Amino acid sequence: MSDRILYITRKEHFNAAHKLYNPDWTREKNDEVFGKCANDNWHGHNFDLYVTIKGVPNPETGFVMDLKKLGAIIKTTVVDVIDHRNINMDVPFMKDKLASIENLAIGIWDQIEPHLDRGVQLHRVKLWETRNNYVEFFG
Ligand code: NI
Repeated sequence: MSDRILYITRKEHFNAAHKLYNPDWTREKNDEVFGKCANDNWHGHNFDLYVTIKGVPNPETGFVMDLKKLGAIIKTTVVDVIDHRNINMDVPFMKDKLASIENLAIGIWDQIEPHLDRGVQLHRVKLWETRNNYVEFFG
């Protein structure tokens, strides 16, 4: 009973701009591969971020981890860094990376993971970019 593992998720939100552009390619190749996502003058998304942790509830609190605390970690390490910014230009952990949601999910994982409580594991970073597209990273 006491070692039952649960998965618990905190949702946060941010808006940001980016473009998909590989500087090693010609303009034509970027347009061919990335289409309007390569638009020089950027475009924005309303991102929904779901961060799932797993662990055994603490017998004293009943919590795997206080979700207010998890929310504060996500806010400090991710939302405050990205929200209303340009992912390609303004976000240190995305420097020199292609600003895809795949790379963004990996960057977000690396931002959050070191700050979790002892005994709590990061399970999934799920990032919605549009109504149709999301990415999941399991570390
Ligand atoms: Ni985009």
